[in-house]
Amino acid sequence: MLRKIKENVFSLNTIDWNRRLFDSLIPLPDGTSYNAYLVCGSEKTVLLDTTDTSMADELFEKLENVDNIDFIVSHHTEQDHSGAIPHVLKKYPNAKVISSPKAKEMITEHLSVPEDKIITVEDGEELSLGDKTLKFIHYPWVHWPETMLTYLKEDKILFPCDLFGSHLATTDMYVADECEVYEAAKRYYAEIMMPFKKFIKKNFYKIDELDIDIIAPSHGPMYDKPEFIINAYKDWISDNVKNTVVIPYISMHGSVEKMVQQLVTSLEAKGIKVYKFDLTVTDIGKLAITLVDAATIVVGTPTVLGEPHPLVTYAVSIANLLKPKTKFASVMASYAWGGKAIEKTVDKIPNIKVELIDPILIKGYPKKDDLDSIDKLANEIYKKHSSINLI
Ligand code: FEO
Repeated sequence: MLRKIKENVFSLNTIDWNRRLFDSLIPLPDGTSYNAYLVCGSEKTVLLDTTDTSMADELFEKLENVDNIDFIVSHHTEQDHSGAIPHVLKKYPNAKVISSPKAKEMITEHLSVPEDKIITVEDGEELSLGDKTLKFIHYPWVHWPETMLTYLKEDKILFPCDLFGSHLATTDMYVADECEVYEAAKRYYAEIMMPFKKFIKKNFYKIDELDIDIIAPSHGPMYDKPEFIINAYKDWISDNVKNTVVIPYISMHGSVEKMVQQLVTSLEAKGIKVYKFDLTVTDIGKLAITLVDAATIVVGTPTVLGEPHPLVTYAVSIANLLKPKTKFASVMASYAWGGKAIEKTVDKIPNIKVELIDPILIKGYPKKDDLDSIDKLANEIYKKHSSINLI
């Protein structure tokens, strides 16, 4: 079914209710959707993105009564949006693909689309469909180098592909529950967009310049109150952090658990919000969400064969890839007979530009002096947060 957005503008979303992993890495607790859109001008018809190859049949059911497509706009070459382009070209052999110049090579490489089927557009270039006009806006690195957005001028609809998306399988056409979508969109930002916040920030003026009624992303529901997601993004890409401490940790025999609990109690008493993540049971996406705006991260690890615990190594490696704006970090480690768990943990986060607060290394189960040193760490974190006016 084509779902009408405005006169002759339709949503063709395919909902992947059961997908639980993206890129063989990212948890999708709420499934996702791959949203394509159809714009029928008085002279030309354009399909904006397609869907994942696995859902091509569902897309074709929606296109059943669409006799002609002149152009397929490919905003982004990742296969969840471009995967069905070759299928669509088979059904509509006269259609041409429109992309950024950078995407042309990627589309031929990844999808084997012949070069002569692809038309490239420059930043700001417009395409008249008769009574409707598409404006193409280059927006590289959201989240691949070739990405662009489309603005439908007459209807004031922005099609930003992955940018502003949320992995949320829902029949809601528009955001119905802002709290639900805020969490899903923040998770999406953390996992997909956060490493590129510098690029999002640099080009955000291109969005601020537009008069937008509706934002129609390629994942999750559309935004008929665009300021909801625009303001959220402005907050996330800003340099502002919150008065929170994130503690990802592993405890093998109770020592690290005791250290972490002491730190939680001490920080809580100082009015600092804490997120505590036992990495044996943590959804890594939840950890990523808290990293979007936490001021401090404290990693807790036992020593395993001279190294941090492998699950800690995994979590800090993910944090390092996501490049959060965290300002301060520390490590609490325990050991039995030696090793360099602290140094090796710190070495794994070169991308996070933090000020390191003195780590704590404890032999065996924490004693009174050890617990006192953890209280001092909490005090140091309090002073650091105060120094940047979080308290
Ligand atoms: Fe939704 Fe980057 O693909």
